Amino acid sequence: MLTAIQETIDFLKSRGVGQVDTGIILGTGLGGLIDHIDITVEIPYEDIPHFPVSTVEFHKGKLIYGTLAGKNVLAMQGRFHYYEGYSMQEVTYPVRVMKFLEIKHLLISNAAGSMNTDWKKGELMLLDDHINLQPANPLRGVNVPEFGSIFTDMSAPYDKALNQQLETLASSLDIPLNVGVYVAVEGPSLETRAEYRFLRNIGADAVGMSTVPEVIVANQMGLPCCAISVLTDDCDPDNLQPVDIADIIAIAQTAEKDLIRLYQELIKNL
Ligand code: HPA
Repeated sequence: MLTAIQETIDFLKSRGVGQVDTGIILGTGLGGLIDHIDITVEIPYEDIPHFPVSTVEFHKGKLIYGTLAGKNVLAMQGRFHYYEGYSMQEVTYPVRVMKFLEIKHLLISNAAGSMNTDWKKGELMLLDDHINLQPANPLRGVNVPEFGSIFTDMSAPYDKALNQQLETLASSLDIPLNVGVYVAVEGPSLETRAEYRFLRNIGADAVGMSTVPEVIVANQMGLPCCAISVLTDDCDPDNLQPVDIADIIAIAQTAEKDLIRLYQELIKNL
């Protein structure tokens, strides 16, 4: 995999990707941060050697290099999900590339369902911890010493300093920021009432189909990361309404304004 990563990096550099401070992964319906980037280079995933190709049509699937709040950023507009049929190694490949490009921080976003009845859809949740219920681990079988140990410590998967800064910024910007536990499931079908009840009972506040693989790989490689969920649907097992993926995307798009402000301010302060 190291050779592949080097080829990917050589290609990106040949296309004008230079020094990068911060990597960003934007989730479903959450591409709006891109509008705030002063874009130098924009490359569709299908053009990048060794990158998987995004198949879900609402993910635009582009890598974007430019400046945001005075910093050089590399942003993934659209990510790879396990439910699309990729292996966990493919899902997390871009994180390894970003780490080898020497990013200092990884900022992640996702759309998630809220099982915490104190919260409302459209609000944000900062991930303090997670539960991995996806059927595979991205470190399984990847014995590459340059990546670090596969027995990666996960006692604090989300960087404490980044989370502290985000909480401080949220209160100074008057943005409600819930803090909680994210559970990653395989998808792509949504959960039944009994499953939401189960997920809530095991200690999760929000549920989604992404983020955890990328966070595991970031931790393995010693890359400080943070993640924010946009809560797109209320998953109360005692009052569950039918939900349409188009509604989830629409809510994500309206709710992402606060996420954009938070990440912009964070990047400015990094
Ligand atoms: N379940 C799983 N993933 C999701 C959900 C959900 O309810 N909402 C947004 N992403």
